[in-house]
Amino acid sequence: MEQKKKFYITTPIYYPSDKLHIGHSYCTVATDCMARYKRLSGYDVMFLTGTDEHGQKIEEKAKEKGVTPKEFVDQIVEGKGGIKDLWKLMNISNDRFIRTTDDYHVEAVQKIFKELYDRGDIYKGTYKGKYCTPCETFWTESQLKDGCCPDCGRPVQDAEEEAYFFRLSKYADRLLKLYDENPEFLTPESRVNEMRAFINQGLQDLCVSRTSFTWGIPVEFDPKHVVYVWVDALFNYMTALGYQNDRYHELEHYWPADVHFVGKEIVRFHAVIWPALLMAMDLPLPKRVYGHGWLLLEGGKMSKSKGNVVDPVVLCERYGVDAIRFFLLRSFPFGSDGVFSNELLINCINTDLANDLGNLVSRTVAMVMKYFGGTLPKEQEAGPEDEELLALAGNLRAAYEKEMEAFAFQNGLTEIFKLISRANKYIDETAPWVLAKDEAKRPRLARVMYNLLECIRLAGILLTPYMPGSAEKILDQCGALPEERTWESAEQFGGLRSDVTVQKGEVLFPRIDVQKELAELAAKKEEKAAEAAAEGPAPKAEIAFEDFEKTDFTVCKVLACEAVPKSNKLLRFTLDDGSGKERQILSGIAKYYKPEELIGKTVVACTNLAPRKMMGYDSCGMLISAEKGKKLHLLMLDDKIEAGAKLC
Ligand code: ME8
Ligand code: MG
Repeated sequence: MEQKKKFYITTPIYYPSDKLHIGHSYCTVATDCMARYKRLSGYDVMFLTGTDEHGQKIEEKAKEKGVTPKEFVDQIVEGKGGIKDLWKLMNISNDRFIRTTDDYHVEAVQKIFKELYDRGDIYKGTYKGKYCTPCETFWTESQLKDGCCPDCGRPVQDAEEEAYFFRLSKYADRLLKLYDENPEFLTPESRVNEMRAFINQGLQDLCVSRTSFTWGIPVEFDPKHVVYVWVDALFNYMTALGYQNDRYHELEHYWPADVHFVGKEIVRFHAVIWPALLMAMDLPLPKRVYGHGWLLLEGGKMSKSKGNVVDPVVLCERYGVDAIRFFLLRSFPFGSDGVFSNELLINCINTDLANDLGNLVSRTVAMVMKYFGGTLPKEQEAGPEDEELLALAGNLRAAYEKEMEAFAFQNGLTEIFKLISRANKYIDETAPWVLAKDEAKRPRLARVMYNLLECIRLAGILLTPYMPGSAEKILDQCGALPEERTWESAEQFGGLRSDVTVQKGEVLFPRIDVQKELAELAAKKEEKAAEAAAEGPAPKAEIAFEDFEKTDFTVCKVLACEAVPKSNKLLRFTLDDGSGKERQILSGIAKYYKPEELIGKTVVACTNLAPRKMMGYDSCGMLISAEKGKKLHLLMLDDKIEAGAKLC
């Protein structure tokens, strides 16, 4: 037997730090669609996903929760409603799931680090620079933007320590050559230009170990160091196949990866650092890296939800997994950013799924039932209206394949929906209800029904990677046998047997009342927020008395208070804190107080908090309020107590 061609595809491995939102699902759904498409078209596929569980960020979050880092990640990855559950819910067909805390991976990374050191590509030095904890990224002074992390804009910390370095600088020329000689290596093209610019501004050696925290893979020969989380994470793509370990034995078979799908902000790690590490180890490079765009919310990033539901579990429960999968790949070109909204989602479900696709299927099946009792007669007669429809249908698989091979998920669907619209139009043109009135026209009517069923079958097969569950139901309804559901059977028009028997089924995609639905979503959202507020924030982990003692709470008199222009949240306070110098503090309580009613009041501030800039003003400290649900009270004291008195 001829051996199948292999296809190895990966998603990034996710940080189990925050709850995953619909933006995270985007990449995994796209990868799943590609893996399913490749399986459908005859490949031997390996689809890997997993979780990236080390690093300072996880260590800090676990500490906040008062659990060990391992307990923390176990809960988020394996626990109820965790990452593995989410992928199950979303019908993700990964062949393997790697956790970077898995023993085999940990041991492999230790060996890899040692080998890089022995080869001279890792050396010991001193690290001086800045570190962005949320991004787990080192920056040099010159890379910062306004003193903050150039990626996320958050403050960075000073970092100076003994550290190991990877000779990344040595690989600049080979990387540029890689892009020049392999235009396929990194796409879309705009990402290559960014990487070239990044390299041309001067590649520095990369700090690849840390000593200031412990939640990481220890360097075997110098265990006070832990391996930089990105070196640890990137090698997952190979350790999951058995590289430097005995857990799996598929490295020879599947490596190099055919494609790594990654979000645009981590292209640099995959198209610069990753190939350089592989070059240093004399290993084959992945064939392709694809940097997809982000899902944004109107006016900002995913995490700041603006009345939109972004929890994939809620969305899947409400609209069905397939509607969500479909929406993600239908509405946004994979390589660019897209703006998510509930309205867009509902309109997409109504237009494409309920109207165009759902109607075509239910009308056709209903007509075959009504006119032929469910089974078509073999005697059929072609007609002049058929030509255009058949040409489009006969060409569909080829057109679709071309788009899928370019990872153009949206265009793949466009091809399918051209046929679906054309088929709907064909119903109007042929007017089956008129044909049905004339006994002599039965062969023609049978042929019209056959053509419609065949178009639905072709669409159903090619929709399978996008909506596996619904596509199966569609194929059930049009009566396709197993051999009539294959990739081969979709190559040409006419694969369905002529005396097919249809099966009436449920409505695939119920229509949604847009206004009612949006109002309900908004109400739900509010309800949830109120519930969360009523529960109050989770209790914080215990702290030492010494830590508590570090805070300085001071009684202050409000000398002046005014609203901050262009902000509907902030009030600017001028305070007498007893020191003889005025203190300025900004506080986000404008919703609760009018500035004039606070002048002269006696309040409490934490006065040794590091100053922060807010809307262009320095805020030196924090006013203390108490909050529950929708209520907030600024803490005010008896006016007899003097400014400068300390809380004790
Ligand atoms: O970066 N829209 O993990 P991560 C589209 N652990 N994609 C989004 C998105 C959005 N709104 N938000 C996140 C990491 N993503 C590393 C990867 S790989 C060796 C290590 C995507 O959990 C993001 O672009 O922060 C990234 O590709 C993926 O989710 C995981 O992000
Ligand atoms: Mg990230």
